[in-house]
Amino acid sequence: MFKVIVTEDINEKGIELLQKCPDIQVDVRMDIERAELLKIIGDYDAMVVRSVTKVNEELYEKATNLKVVGRAGNGVDNIEMAGATKRGIIVVNTPESNIISAAEHTIGLLLSSSRNIVPANKILEGGGWERKALTGSEMFNKTLGIIGLGRIGGLVTKRMQAFGMKIIAYDPYIADSRFEALGVEKCATLEELLRRSDVITIHTPKTEETVNIISDKEFALCKKGVRIVNCARGGLINEDALVKAIKDGIVASAGVDVLIGEPKPVSPLIKVPECVVTPHLGAETWEAQVNVGVAVAEEVISALHGEMVPNAVNLPALHSEELSEMLDYLSLGEALGKLYYQLEKEPAEKVEIFYGGSVMNMETQLITRAILKGVFEPVLKERVNYVNSEVAAESRGVAVSVGKTQSQYNLITVTVRSKNKSFTASGTVIRKGEIRITNIDGYNFDLTPEPYMLVVRNQDKPGVIGRIGTFLGDAKVNIANMQVSRNQAGDAMMFMSVDNVVSGEVLTGLQKDALVKEARFVRL
Ligand code: NAD
Ligand code: MLT
Repeated sequence: MFKVIVTEDINEKGIELLQKCPDIQVDVRMDIERAELLKIIGDYDAMVVRSVTKVNEELYEKATNLKVVGRAGNGVDNIEMAGATKRGIIVVNTPESNIISAAEHTIGLLLSSSRNIVPANKILEGGGWERKALTGSEMFNKTLGIIGLGRIGGLVTKRMQAFGMKIIAYDPYIADSRFEALGVEKCATLEELLRRSDVITIHTPKTEETVNIISDKEFALCKKGVRIVNCARGGLINEDALVKAIKDGIVASAGVDVLIGEPKPVSPLIKVPECVVTPHLGAETWEAQVNVGVAVAEEVISALHGEMVPNAVNLPALHSEELSEMLDYLSLGEALGKLYYQLEKEPAEKVEIFYGGSVMNMETQLITRAILKGVFEPVLKERVNYVNSEVAAESRGVAVSVGKTQSQYNLITVTVRSKNKSFTASGTVIRKGEIRITNIDGYNFDLTPEPYMLVVRNQDKPGVIGRIGTFLGDAKVNIANMQVSRNQAGDAMMFMSVDNVVSGEVLTGLQKDALVKEARFVRL
């Protein structure tokens, strides 16, 4: 039974999905005190959070069973990624589920702040009637500067183009083709964007580079009367600098959805009349909350069941179709990797991986992780998975190199080098669902990996196969399939798929035959 704790408000449809899983027990503990969370987190296999719960080293140290962190939403700045990755904890989020709501809220903040909707409402509520002091600005024909032209930046672009705005953007991390496709003029520097924009909106993640990306120095570069919105993360725009820029008449109005210190902010912006502040409502729509709740529940369920999750943050990003195409290659890579420590005993010093044929066009980084998972899984006590297999190699000083090889058909070749020798295994995917190991240490095969396999290395002499068969029959080991391959040196390798685990006693018995060099049981 997997135990899942939900520490923040996620839609009931998501909770129901989790509850429906017969092997999942869900504890909804919204607003749980930190000290208590730390006390009980060791019992849980997964946790579902939004933006408030800090998932950090302090928590990981106690979370000895944690396998999955589900972030119901987009930003993962409350989750320490390195700590999760090191421990093989999969972090999943729902990056697409609330972006429309966030884009619409951005525009809501922009329009309400630039048209003084909130103070106007307050004046009316107080029995007053005021128009002159509440004159605002149109968006039409103005220049909108977008910092961060990702998902939400792109949605805001399309919507504000319909308002007749000219859109310029600063985002040094995306291709020019995205600017072109969106009809957005690229600013080479942030400074250029600040100098040219009548309206600015920020849509970057919160990183070391983007915290305080707009502060006193940047406001000094802005046009007088600029309007600005932050619907991304608290602290991207320095709160004190924004208050000062409003007082100095640089900023005419501001819309802010995100504050430092949430959910108990003490922001100076809250009391500034030119500033419309909302309590992180960007994703707070019925639609987004259902989308996010269902998406995060589905991902947590898949991840707990060992399936690949397209939105795993600490795995290479893949679309679901891409992922389904790659599943066979992941299984093949893992099987090739698993052969090493089950057939060899020398500590690996280097893993060399070559991709040939159509595999070269795939997201091979994930296949590399599958191979490394396979290599280390049989010998490590701690959990090794797609998330931390590269870290596992690195922390053991095992060098990993990846290259390409010419091949008519798709081919993965893994060579593991140790101090004194090297071991190579290759394989291919014939068609969907059919993977084959084609070569092991110089022996050609056409082998389908099976969960239980018996491997015998022997001298290639008449009679040995018969004796092995008789011995296994007497030992009640049922052989489902068998392949034999030999090399020029007169040695042979035999791979048998068997129905059950083969005991050490049987392996020792096999090795008593003078022609048998080695017998091993392998799980693939
Ligand atoms: P995204 O990853 O799709 O886009 C972010 C973009 O920022 C990327 O294109 C990236 O290249 C760019 N970027 C990164 N560093 C930059 C820098 N230093 N300068 C300029 N550009 C930089 O993210 P998204 O889904 O569009 O989300 C954007 C932000 O909105 C995130 O911070 C997210 O957490 C936040 N968000 C808030 C709410 C809300 O409720 N208010 C809802 C959803 C998302
Ligand atoms: C997000 O990053 O998805 C938003 O900030 C919304 C949220 O945290 O709920």
